[in-house]
Amino acid sequence: MKVDVLLGLQWGDEGKGKVVDVLTPKYEVVTRFQGGPNAGHTLEFEGQKYVLRSIPSGIFQGGKINIIGNGVVLDPALFKAEVEQLEQSGHDLTKRLYISRKAHLILPTHRLLDAAYESAKGKGKIGTTGKGIGPTYTDKVSRNGLRVGDIELNFKEKYDAAIARHKEILSHYDFKYDLAPIEKEWWAGIEKLKQYKFVDSEHFINKTLADGKKILAEGAQGTMLDVDFGSYPFVTSSNTICAGACTGLGVAPHRIGDVFGIFKAYCTRVGAGPFPTELFDETGKTIRDLGHEYGAVTGRERRCGWIDLVALKYAVMINGVTKLIMMKSDVLDGFDTIKACVAYKINGIETEDFPFDICEGVEPVYTEFDGWKTDMSKMTSVNEFPEEYNAYISFIEEYLGVPIKIVSVGPDREQTIQL
Ligand code: GDP
Ligand code: IMO
Ligand code: MG
Repeated sequence: MKVDVLLGLQWGDEGKGKVVDVLTPKYEVVTRFQGGPNAGHTLEFEGQKYVLRSIPSGIFQGGKINIIGNGVVLDPALFKAEVEQLEQSGHDLTKRLYISRKAHLILPTHRLLDAAYESAKGKGKIGTTGKGIGPTYTDKVSRNGLRVGDIELNFKEKYDAAIARHKEILSHYDFKYDLAPIEKEWWAGIEKLKQYKFVDSEHFINKTLADGKKILAEGAQGTMLDVDFGSYPFVTSSNTICAGACTGLGVAPHRIGDVFGIFKAYCTRVGAGPFPTELFDETGKTIRDLGHEYGAVTGRERRCGWIDLVALKYAVMINGVTKLIMMKSDVLDGFDTIKACVAYKINGIETEDFPFDICEGVEPVYTEFDGWKTDMSKMTSVNEFPEEYNAYISFIEEYLGVPIKIVSVGPDREQTIQL
């Protein structure tokens, strides 16, 4: 059997959590493969809303095993808060949530380093989520990290050495901090973490596949935030792309099955960095208001703009997307005209190829579509789609060369239409 991968094709917040939840019944195991609590994945069903940060979005569907994979970075304090919130709403995850021993731990000082680096960058700051993601992945790559499996082996000694090293780095920054309260929370988080099953997830996952069971891998962030292929340096610190599922889970490339590429019918971005189709006018504001485009965790305003098919085509190529999923088209239900960026004009020359750098001098070239002007939020079947809507999705499919298999017309689990 294979691992199907579901990942974001834009700058995150495409609606990954919602669709992973919808697809989970078809799988035996759901697993996150990268990122950490910088993610905020929203699920809505039976009148309840949940926001998941480190826990995979398959956790609510019928006792399936969910795994936090080795590519993830995990903050014990935030993990504790997340599971306690779920416990309060009656969800006990201890039997069905496993954690990879090779997942790296976000230490209390990683968060401080994230803040210190950001403030030192001044105007060039990335606008990170402040969760210590960059410093934790830096320690992983520079071979200084602490992993979940270390909790079982001389842990305090390793922790103290890491904290001393971080304190020394922090002393070079004009940055005040009080470590004691966050350390206390963090150690309480470690105790909580110990209630969960630590696994050698690469063995578990490959055995699951060998037993003929299907796995869904859930991406975090989006392709344009990928550390190699995103809008560098305004990116996150992990490989958010399909290849990240191989390294973040320990599965061979030929074990990857379908790659579900998910995107919004328009585009958003949170934090700093280039965004060629960003709208600074009333239309941008209308999209933000109608789409409730505010960060799931931080509440930060998301920047809004038209769909960028040049960037999407690049994302489809990098990920080898086999099936597309279009989200939030209901947000555009009332628009007279909808635009899609079909090329970039750079130094007066039009191109459909995503360039090295989109920071400056990229002017979007748009094609216009008539709006469908129909409330689609209660539709359940493709037969009900307005003609203008069909024209919009057909154009996107043709441009990207991949079929759209699911459209989402509202935040609830039920507002999902298979094509
Ligand atoms: P993720 O990080 O990719 O899981 O996405 P987020 O949860 O950060 O952001 C997606 C937001 O859009 C959440 O508030 C969802 O509840 C909401 N959402 C998801 N799909 C739809 C949709 O089709 N229509 C509308 N209006 N909202 C949606
Ligand atoms: P989900 O999984 C949207 C952005 C931050 C910042 C940059 C780097 O919910 O789609 P980091 O804290 O990772 O070092 O921040 O990446 N970012 C996200 N934007 N959705 C996310 O996750 C994001 N995770 C990080 O805003 O610009
Ligand atoms: Mg999100």
